[in-house]
Amino acid sequence: MMDRRAFLKSAYCAAALAALPRLALARAPDGFFELTAGTGQARLYGEDGGLSDLWLYNGSFPGPEIRVKRGERVRVRFTNELDEPTSIHWHGIRIDNAMDGVAGLTQPAVQPGESFEYDFEVPDAGTYWYHAHNMSWNQVPRGLAGPLIIEDEQERFSPQTDITLMLTDWRLSNKGVLDTETIGSLHDFSHAGRLGNWLTVNGVSLPDIPLQAQRWHRLRLINSSASRILDLDPSRLGARIIALDGQSFDEARAAEGPVQLAPAQRMDLALRPENEGNMPFEATTGRAFTVANFKVGAPTVPDIPLTLPAKNALPEPDLSAAQHVPLVMAGGAMGGMRFLLSSGISQEELRDMMQDGKFWAFNGQAGMGDNPLFTAKRGETIVMESRNESNFPHAIHLHGHHFKILERDGELLPEQDWRDTFITTRQETVKIAFVADNPGKWLVHCHMLEHAASGMMEWFIVA
Ligand code: C2O
Ligand code: CU
Repeated sequence: MMDRRAFLKSAYCAAALAALPRLALARAPDGFFELTAGTGQARLYGEDGGLSDLWLYNGSFPGPEIRVKRGERVRVRFTNELDEPTSIHWHGIRIDNAMDGVAGLTQPAVQPGESFEYDFEVPDAGTYWYHAHNMSWNQVPRGLAGPLIIEDEQERFSPQTDITLMLTDWRLSNKGVLDTETIGSLHDFSHAGRLGNWLTVNGVSLPDIPLQAQRWHRLRLINSSASRILDLDPSRLGARIIALDGQSFDEARAAEGPVQLAPAQRMDLALRPENEGNMPFEATTGRAFTVANFKVGAPTVPDIPLTLPAKNALPEPDLSAAQHVPLVMAGGAMGGMRFLLSSGISQEELRDMMQDGKFWAFNGQAGMGDNPLFTAKRGETIVMESRNESNFPHAIHLHGHHFKILERDGELLPEQDWRDTFITTRQETVKIAFVADNPGKWLVHCHMLEHAASGMMEWFIVA
């Protein structure tokens, strides 16, 4: 994925590696958080690289961290200073439908120069994020994303030990700046999406991250990449997993080898470094490479035992009275389009699709139709049985709800984790269940943003 030699060179030559500032957003006097989308620049490729032209929230990447308590009302005054319409989606929040931020479905896009007020309650604690949701394939890889952290009533970690790490895969040109020319390339649309060649942590190339010896930390990892699945191995740090997609476990879980973090997924780790010194934080694509340096220093905060974050009250699916919805994913290069033909799409339809930049389909349909994928009665359990008939992995995200992953390839999973985005590898079947209790029109789409743009996007109604 990265040119390792170039990466090491930049790591060792950089005069001063940036530490990670915590950019928590303060409220305006009237209680609103203020977010403005606009153009800006940042150095993504270390000190040696040039300035990339980005689109940013409040001039920074990531956008400032919004941190509130569970149950709080969040009001955001959003202003669009870009030259094109945009909107903000609050990823993973069981939100009032009108505030979900999906341009064209839950609100009109916010036009250049205009403002929009988001006003919603956050029912669940955990690690979430926000990002642009109008032509996301174009807006997110330019930098429109930021963390949204919801604390429970008795947050145990101090600011020094509660650390948000947004991991982002960028495609840089050979000048070390964001390659904007290939944004929207049909090759990316029809293959694995926009894969980058450079990874930043909180927008910084190979940052130093201060930790404290003999103290518990909570690391909140967010994958804000357009399409890159990251392989991370918490066991190499001696860390344990305590939450996925914001939903905390009953018990801290040891990882047995690498864990995949798909675009939009989050993973919270509990980590207690034994000794002072340096500890590399690695990701793997083929082989491990360092993405940040943990610098473990002497403790300054009190020692507290590890207690897991409080759980959220999510509605338990009732499998005995569920509506079953199939979700067949097909298309893409490497033989995937052939399946579309065999699934009843004619040669002609296929040609039209491709001319339209559509290479993927859910249930034989490329993109959102006039009719929803399904309609649920409020409170009804939905069991979605997905089958990935393509030769690529996908990361399927459901808006407005959390679901349980029940089965993979027909096998019941011992841990039926709550998620808002699930990975499915090629030719796999995955069964999920959720209670459709949030009224409105919601999206279900691949969070590989190029796939979403080229057909892997549908909607459903909870009436
Ligand atoms: Cu994170 Cu429809 O998005
Ligand atoms: Cu996909």
